[in-house]
Amino acid sequence: MTPTGNAFTEHAADLYRDGSRLAARTSALHRAKTHGRPVADVIAELAANRLAVPQHAVVADIGCGRGTSSRVLAERLGPQLLLCVDASAAMLSAARARISARTRGTHTTVVFLRADFHHMPLPDAACDLAVAAFCLYHAADPRPVIDEIARTLAPCGAAILVTKSADSYRALDCLVADAGLDVHATERPSLYAAAHSGNLADLTAPFLQVERVQHEEHRFAFTGLDHVADYLATSPKYDLPPGLAADPAAIAAALHAVLPDRPLVTTSTITYLTATRGAPA
Ligand SMILES: C[S@@+](CC[C@H](N)C(=O)[O-])C[C@H]1O[C@@H](n2cnc3c(N)ncnc32)[C@H](O)[C@@H]1O
Repeated sequence: MTPTGNAFTEHAADLYRDGSRLAARTSALHRAKTHGRPVADVIAELAANRLAVPQHAVVADIGCGRGTSSRVLAERLGPQLLLCVDASAAMLSAARARISARTRGTHTTVVFLRADFHHMPLPDAACDLAVAAFCLYHAADPRPVIDEIARTLAPCGAAILVTKSADSYRALDCLVADAGLDVHATERPSLYAAAHSGNLADLTAPFLQVERVQHEEHRFAFTGLDHVADYLATSPKYDLPPGLAADPAAIAAALHAVLPDRPLVTTSTITYLTATRGAPA
């Protein structure tokens, strides 16, 4: 039977209950990355182009996670108010630790809001710019979330939505299947199925005017099986044998037992969508 479950939509709260999984995943990917601009830099550049006077702007970073984009937005734009929104208390606390010291003494006020992005405690038209990076695919249906983002935008306000291609890290699916750790690995639905490079514009168009969609291929070269195992231990995609899940050393040992140790290259397309809320008629 073809596997259908998607841990990113079904168990998102569990994945972000503490910050360690995301930090380990980001670290494994960061060490592997050979091509692709830092996503937070691109977001800040797109944001700067959208705001007439960034220092007067209210900016929301929705699904802010550990605050990677929030920090760069604070530093590069220096907005009047930066709202960091996330459902996870642990993520917000990590974001607070990374951002607060850097904004102390500046004119930027940073507010951390624990909220579900389906129902944000923000008034209508409160934001000049909203960023939602790598989080829309955690909603089984992202359309109500994009509608909610549109509600919070001021007339002519902009949204920057960022996601990945559905085929991201495909070579790792093949490796997991070849190793026999999860023979269905290549058939499992993409973690990004709900909001990916191929459907983001269609999801957004009913709620916002889509202005630009940019795709950029990111390339990752894992040095060998130990490095691959560091990443696999953070991925909820696979149905690994008992005792292996979340244990990089155990996964590495299982891979070494059946596969030659060599570098592995994989890709992910990062998609940046810029959209605006129309002016009132
Ligand atoms: C992969 S992280 C993205 C972090 C950050 N935007 C970045 O680019 O590094 C996804 C974040 O979405 C948050 N999230 C998932 N479902 C959410 C929901 N229903 N409401 C608000 N945040 C949610 C998670 O808690 C997590 O921090």
